[in-house]
Amino acid sequence: MAEGKEAQTVAPRDAADKGAALALPAMDTHDAIARRTSTRVFKPEPVPRYQIERLIAAAVRAPNHKLTEPWRFAVLTGASLQRYAEIRRAHRATRFADPNDQQAVKAIEKTFREHLETPAFVVVMCAVAEDPVRREEDYGATMMAIENLMIAAAADGLGTYLRTGGILERPDVKALATVPEGYRIVGIVSLGHPARDEEPKRRTSAAELTTWLD
Ligand SMILES: Cc1cc2nc3c(=O)[nH]c(=O)nc-3n(C[C@H](O)[C@H](O)[C@H](O)COP(=O)(O)O)c2cc1C
Repeated sequence: MAEGKEAQTVAPRDAADKGAALALPAMDTHDAIARRTSTRVFKPEPVPRYQIERLIAAAVRAPNHKLTEPWRFAVLTGASLQRYAEIRRAHRATRFADPNDQQAVKAIEKTFREHLETPAFVVVMCAVAEDPVRREEDYGATMMAIENLMIAAAADGLGTYLRTGGILERPDVKALATVPEGYRIVGIVSLGHPARDEEPKRRTSAAELTTWLD
């Protein structure tokens, strides 16, 4: 373990199998970034509240011009998660010309099940400033906060999946997440222990995308 790095007690991925939480060395940041990939299927074991709190504490360390702290978070578990899954099901149904068609019913129920089987969702909100420059900077900072959360989760062996889209504008989602006046939802992050190891998706090498101007 690198000097100065302390072991942190986190529930490892297979804690349920082993029946115990183990002390894990902190994962190197580069490893966490390289290993992170969007996780769609989770184990049923819950993510303890202290662990989610720690991820949100990582989120709010994001760079933030003028320290506006534009972010707010709502964590959905239990009954609120059940309600969110129902809203997701209703939202998916709006995407089909005939939601009663057999294929549509299957797809809609799959969405519902996947959401019910996700241990937690973190709804991330951002202040909507009147000034367009501040608005953009606040949005950028909040997306960086989301990335902090996702990388910290990867370092803890947790999976995440950021979603945006029309669902964010739904009044029932806003009501569920208690979005304050003057804020909007910028993303909803699924969170849990990945059901399986997934290969991170391919990226073009950074070298191909970088110009060095000496
Ligand atoms: C700003 C943003 C919005 C996203 N919104 C969605 C979404 O609405 N639905 C979805 O399936 N994935 C969404 N994603 C996840 C991407 O699809 C995912 O990151 C991409 O497929 C690359 O896969 P990886 O995260 O495993 O590397 C979003 C990602 C970002 C950065």
